[in-house]
Amino acid sequence: MKTIQLDRPASPDDAVLWMDGDLLLLDQRLLPHAEVFIHCENARDTARAITDMVVRGAPVIGVTAAYGVVLAARDAWRGAGAGWRQAMKEDLSLLAAARPTAVNLGWAIARMEKLAQGLADDADPEPALLAEAKAIHEEDIAANHTLGDLGASLIEHKTSVITHCNAGALATGGYGTALGVIRSAWKAGKLDQVYADETRPWLQGSRLTAWELVRDGIPVSLLADGAAAARLAVGSVDWVVVGSDRIAANGDVANKIGTYSLALVAKAHGVKFMVAAPTSTIDMNCPGGGDIPIETRDEAELLSCGGKQVASAGADAWNPVFDVTPAGLVDAIVTEKGIILSPDAKKLYQHMA
Ligand code: MRU
Repeated sequence: MKTIQLDRPASPDDAVLWMDGDLLLLDQRLLPHAEVFIHCENARDTARAITDMVVRGAPVIGVTAAYGVVLAARDAWRGAGAGWRQAMKEDLSLLAAARPTAVNLGWAIARMEKLAQGLADDADPEPALLAEAKAIHEEDIAANHTLGDLGASLIEHKTSVITHCNAGALATGGYGTALGVIRSAWKAGKLDQVYADETRPWLQGSRLTAWELVRDGIPVSLLADGAAAARLAVGSVDWVVVGSDRIAANGDVANKIGTYSLALVAKAHGVKFMVAAPTSTIDMNCPGGGDIPIETRDEAELLSCGGKQVASAGADAWNPVFDVTPAGLVDAIVTEKGIILSPDAKKLYQHMA
């Protein structure tokens, strides 16, 4: 895959760019130290970029996959003409398998496929599919602004918050989910500062969340993941605000590994726990947290840091990259459709009806 540098500084809103018919992804593995874009020439490049974490975060994985479907259709139309729908099937399967936990990936591909079903066999499908991918992208940004304001409305008194991983513009079409709430709360004068877990092993907190918040002038202090309990014990933090990769029909929430322990310590300290996510992250076909596929990645990611081996030779590692927080530990799920307090199966069903 070719790399490209823009003739201007990158911004968190540049996670996915469609420019002159090209799909460019800001390489999040290199942030904040380098702002390099990867040019995905086809759906296979796109799937690899998702698997390799060039782009990461559930909603933006969905947006990226939607553009990947456009590339698949382009190649299929050029290669198979009227047989394009059948010809792009393998590419769509590759995209769908790129990462298992973020349900937005399958959600976006299903939406693109549904549109494709209604298109003519004998006309280039790219314009219609591109319009749908752009709609998915723009709707995600709009949803984040709405849910950001709704989430901020739950914060009653000026306070500090803790967030985990990166659920910002980089992880979404733009504005962010958890960081959308934080941005809206900051604008409303309700925020003293943000504590951001560094989020081992990919350090999405220290590399990406801190990058986004510093650029916005929102005060951010990093915490080693294990320091969150001690910070909550000190006081002055009323809310934990996180995103999600998949919310089950009973309100159980999958998110970056470490979210579950944060929810437990929040409960122990009387700190409220908010999950901010668009409805595209809610999987009504998944009855409970135990049904959510949890991605386990290469143990090398944990045994090393910054590309350098840090663990003692001979040690192995268990590296699940998401965990499930039971609904009983969640005070609020906030989507673009509204706020679900103390979520359970009945409330989720009503919300999604
Ligand atoms: O492994 P990642 O970086 O893709 O994990 C991302 C997260 O867990 C985010 O918190 C989640 O996708 C919500 S992003 C708005």
